[in-house]
Amino acid sequence: MLDKARIGVLGAGNMGEALIGGVIKACIVEAHQITASRRSDSALAALRGTWGISTTTDNCALVRDNDIILLAVKPQVMGDVLACVAPCFRPGQVVISIAAGITTTYIESFTGNDIPVIRVMPNTPALVGQAVSPYCLGQHGSAAQALVASQIFSAVGVTVQVEEGMMDAITALSGTGPAYVFYLLEGLIEAGKAMGLPEHLSRALVRQTAYGAAKLVVETPRTPAQLRAQVTSPQGTTHAAMSHLDSQHFLGLLEAAVLKARDRALELGKAASTRKPGQ
Ligand SMILES: NC(=O)c1ccc[n+]([C@@H]2O[C@H](COP(=O)([O-])OP(=O)(O)OC[C@H]3O[C@@H](n4cnc5c(N)ncnc54)[C@H](OP(=O)(O)O)[C@@H]3O)[C@@H](O)[C@H]2O)c1
Repeated sequence: MLDKARIGVLGAGNMGEALIGGVIKACIVEAHQITASRRSDSALAALRGTWGISTTTDNCALVRDNDIILLAVKPQVMGDVLACVAPCFRPGQVVISIAAGITTTYIESFTGNDIPVIRVMPNTPALVGQAVSPYCLGQHGSAAQALVASQIFSAVGVTVQVEEGMMDAITALSGTGPAYVFYLLEGLIEAGKAMGLPEHLSRALVRQTAYGAAKLVVETPRTPAQLRAQVTSPQGTTHAAMSHLDSQHFLGLLEAAVLKARDRALELGKAASTRKPGQ
């Protein structure tokens, strides 16, 4: 289905560009099949220069002239953008949204025409082809549309179809997920410096440790808990570190942080949805 499809990326910022780069590099589509929109002319010129795609600042033209519309603006502006482009949707299109918190039902209230809407939550490892992108179908989606989403998002990593009710939790877990890992690594780099290691060495050690640990998690059948137990000998150095983290309720704190992200996704969805079609 994608070999002739025209794809319009509405709001081609960080995530939009990661997806554009991913599908072009994976040869899922050719550059001439893609048009991107955003407001900044200079950023659009950079997109044209880097990827050879077409660009426009006219969101309505982008929606009118493409078959697959990828909505990649922030949730906070989604209502206003949808209200502007609502008259430009036509039967036969597929709409994909990556916005946190915004439900397929809300988007369908603007698109009409029984247009299938797919909600996807990728994450920033899309930039290196290692995203995880859970997706769900709205009320008009079918297996054919699931294939479209899976083809596009497979270009930047792995995909999995889920129920929409899981999407806010997924946003908090894997959408926000890379930030939890980066924060942990920032803390480890600082700890290395606090012990007197040069910053470049601390950074290099932490970077390779993170890469090696991630590879172990992905490439061995063991769970993270089993892998941790394997390196934690009774009364050893790792045991001392883990006992301190446990005494400070590290896991409870982490869980509370993830729940905050989930609640924020819900809030963003609710706040954005105050703008109704025709307003
Ligand atoms: N970043 C993540 O880790 C991540 C992960 C999963 C999902 N998401 C979702 O992806 C979406 C985009 O996130 P992002 O991090 O890529 O944000 P971003 O870099 O700010 O991209 C959003 C883009 O929308 C453009 N924009 C704003 N108003 C517009 C309008 N009226 N018409 C057309 N374009 C407009 C902005 O460009 P101009 O200012 O030039 O218009 C901006 O480049 C969000 O909904 C977010 O929830 C993000």
